[in-house]
Amino acid sequence: MCGIVGYIGRREAAPLLLEGLQRLEYRGYDSAGLAIHARNPGLKSAKAAGRVRDLESRLPKRFSGTTGIAHTRWATHGAPDDANAHPHLDATGRVAVVHNGIIDNASDLRARLAADGVTLASDTDTEVLAHLIGRSTAETLEARVREALGHIEGTYGIAVLHAGFPDRIVAARNGSPVVLGIGEHEMFVASDVAALVAHTRQVVTLDDGEMATLTADDYRTCTTEGSRTAPAPETVEWAAESYDLGGHDTYMHKEISEQADAVDRVLRGRIDDRFATVHLGGLNMDAREARGVRRVKILGCGSAYHAGLIGAQLVEELARIPADAEPASEFRYRNAVVDPDTLYVAVSQSGETYDTLAAVQELKRKGARVLGVVNVVGSAIARETDGGVYVHAGPEVCVVSTKCFTNTAVAFALLALHLGRIRDLSVSDGRRIIAGLRRLPEQIAEILRGEEEIRRLAAEYAEARSMMFVGRVRGYPVALEASLKLKEVSYVHAEAYPASELKHGPLALIEPALPTVAVLPDDDLLEKNRATLEEIKARGGPILAVGHERQEKADHTLVVPRNEPELDPVLLGVPLQLLAYHTALTLGRDIDKPRNLAKSVTVE
Ligand code: F6R
Repeated sequence: MCGIVGYIGRREAAPLLLEGLQRLEYRGYDSAGLAIHARNPGLKSAKAAGRVRDLESRLPKRFSGTTGIAHTRWATHGAPDDANAHPHLDATGRVAVVHNGIIDNASDLRARLAADGVTLASDTDTEVLAHLIGRSTAETLEARVREALGHIEGTYGIAVLHAGFPDRIVAARNGSPVVLGIGEHEMFVASDVAALVAHTRQVVTLDDGEMATLTADDYRTCTTEGSRTAPAPETVEWAAESYDLGGHDTYMHKEISEQADAVDRVLRGRIDDRFATVHLGGLNMDAREARGVRRVKILGCGSAYHAGLIGAQLVEELARIPADAEPASEFRYRNAVVDPDTLYVAVSQSGETYDTLAAVQELKRKGARVLGVVNVVGSAIARETDGGVYVHAGPEVCVVSTKCFTNTAVAFALLALHLGRIRDLSVSDGRRIIAGLRRLPEQIAEILRGEEEIRRLAAEYAEARSMMFVGRVRGYPVALEASLKLKEVSYVHAEAYPASELKHGPLALIEPALPTVAVLPDDDLLEKNRATLEEIKARGGPILAVGHERQEKADHTLVVPRNEPELDPVLLGVPLQLLAYHTALTLGRDIDKPRNLAKSVTVE
């Protein structure tokens, strides 16, 4: 999705902006651009379809100035070409705007501007903002931006330059993240802390309906209505190095490899051995309230939804509370019954996914209690929810989720254990789960040591045009996630089915050209799963099994270490992440930036 970075200070802006844009590349984009206050008064801008390096090669030699804004664009209105890339300028070239989000009434505003004789230079919604700001005669830049925003319906995160106000950048947020970075005699603005942590870890996150004026030495914030606000600066935990490749060829590989440490982090400081439970300080829910929960409903999209499916099973198993998970993107559109005794849980790595955020907002409006299971601290979902559990996976840069999926599943195990121990889960079962949780990091490390075998298998299966993934109960969300991982990163078609459903239809597809990945932990369904393998084998389908022991009917088995059955999904998913990774590598895919995908989907 689109990215914003802005700088005002004493250093040359262009190199800092380009570096910031490179840090945002992981979000997915199709064009890039920047504008700066030139030393001779006036704005200079450059834009290019393609990568940030294409923009860099197009910059004129003299592109000097210490204040600027920049953008990576993910096309929504208009083709991904030079003209539609941001920044957009007004008719006089004295205003430059970069914008994330969607202006819903853009076509009306474009028509009105055109009727007034304005020539629009692009097909974008954003350009109207530049013209509206340029036409305002209010006294300050802040007031001009406020006036322009008054005409806008939709979502935005923006940063604005004006040649008449060379000592400032104005930024505003409504539904699309904006953070300010506070440095020594310099300030940054960005849509994602990734763009600024190399320079400062002191940040202020704007709320929806808030705007900021940045000068080199100071910033001030107010609402878009003009009342002063005073958000407290926070220190970002994630260091700049967390965004580097650290010796790996891709972020996906780096992030898969980091999972033992990441799981260690989500557990750290939370286990309470004395009462065989966990402390989750951020839940903001006392024991009496937790006991009053009659249902748990988990909402998320994509991999977050799959982690939520694992979470729902854990809550049912450990806390014996009826629980289910649903894609947030569906839930928000179906006028669901919102029940006061249901605990809603929104799951999101980025904390910015629009569908999930919209579901949270709808639930809050109807008076529901909503918790967040979120990775990015201070993100929109983290702020909108009543409390929650941070998953502490560290920054996830690869577009496809791996370590965050695993950590989210573990975070759900913590939540389920907490709810269980307030209700009927025994001390001995609590201890059993805690011991299992503690074994996870070393067991993940053990699975990762088997990478070479998975690489060989991936090379063997990479020729398949399609793959089937099956699992029963605990294995099913693992199959769903593994199938999503394979298709998004390798573009090999993949489907996931409950193993129990195979004979109700998809068995018709099984033949020697369709390999099946079967997730079969050694739980009480193992015999049933073995019967499924027989059915597949009888139709000549190749089988790759993932489980706790070698399967005779399978052509290959990836063996993972045993843990407590409830925690099996956490470990069973890991080798299948590597399978997707090595398949994509064998097929020469752009692993960290799969085609058509973006890291955080902040639009509808
Ligand atoms: C898949 C993937 C996506 C995200 C989904 C939700 O690998 O990364 O399916 O899981 O877009 O994103 P978050 O978790 O940021 O809400």
